[in-house]
Amino acid sequence: MPSEAQTLPPPPLARLPGTFDLTGLRIPHHVGIIMDGNGRWAQQRGQPRFMGHRAGTTNIRRVLEASATFGIKVLTIYAFSTENWARPPAEVRTLMQLLSRSLNDQLGELHANGVQIRHSGSLVGISDTLRRQILAALELTRNNTRIVLNVAFNYGGRAEIIDAVQRMMADRVPPDQISEDLLGEYLYTHGLPDPDLIIRTGGEYRLSNFLIWQAAYAEYYATPTYWPDFDEGELYRAIVTYSERDRRFGKVKVG
Ligand code: FPP
Repeated sequence: MPSEAQTLPPPPLARLPGTFDLTGLRIPHHVGIIMDGNGRWAQQRGQPRFMGHRAGTTNIRRVLEASATFGIKVLTIYAFSTENWARPPAEVRTLMQLLSRSLNDQLGELHANGVQIRHSGSLVGISDTLRRQILAALELTRNNTRIVLNVAFNYGGRAEIIDAVQRMMADRVPPDQISEDLLGEYLYTHGLPDPDLIIRTGGEYRLSNFLIWQAAYAEYYATPTYWPDFDEGELYRAIVTYSERDRRFGKVKVG
């Protein structure tokens, strides 16, 4: 009997068939995904929730490869929120172990494929072993440029802003020096562009404390599809929808 956190073998690296015509599409540079619906995906199949999280973990690889192929440069995934600590301890353990196993099993291949791993969130409360694994993954892949996989783990948008303000105060930043750009440098996402597109799977229409500062002008796309079923075609549909949106950033169109 496999353990709850055992990851499935990763699918072969996606070689997208020519059915996805990217001609004329505006490709979002940074996409954030709220990966919702793992539990319901499992329940629908009469399986325990952890099976949904396993399938969801496997799906990250598929969507990461599709993202890179479509030309997305930064993919931020919401893997564990600060609120998720309130889930049953066994489920919290499963989510921790899934990240640990994924790093263990897939880090080498991700690195070989040019994936730069970033972490957004707090390392406080995470086991020493997992903390070491995360830091090693960041260090190993820091110079990779094909795509950034930014894993929001033990992440909350409000906590991130409070953390930034506390560190600015500890650095004795004068109040009149505080600007949006400076605050951005104190966020976990420092150095990354703001997300252009936020996708939420699983049918809800909430941000759930995800990139609340950075997503101020992001386009939002929600789909009822549960995360483990969100495939290349779904990502393509989200990009097409994004491409059709008229982004004005609070301004009016001239001419
Ligand atoms: C929501 O599904 C999803 C999460 C709690 C986080 C997403 C986690 C993964 C994809 C697995 C973790 C992977 C790594 C590598 C850390 P839900 O359980 O809230 O679904 P439900 O709304 O149907 O119950």
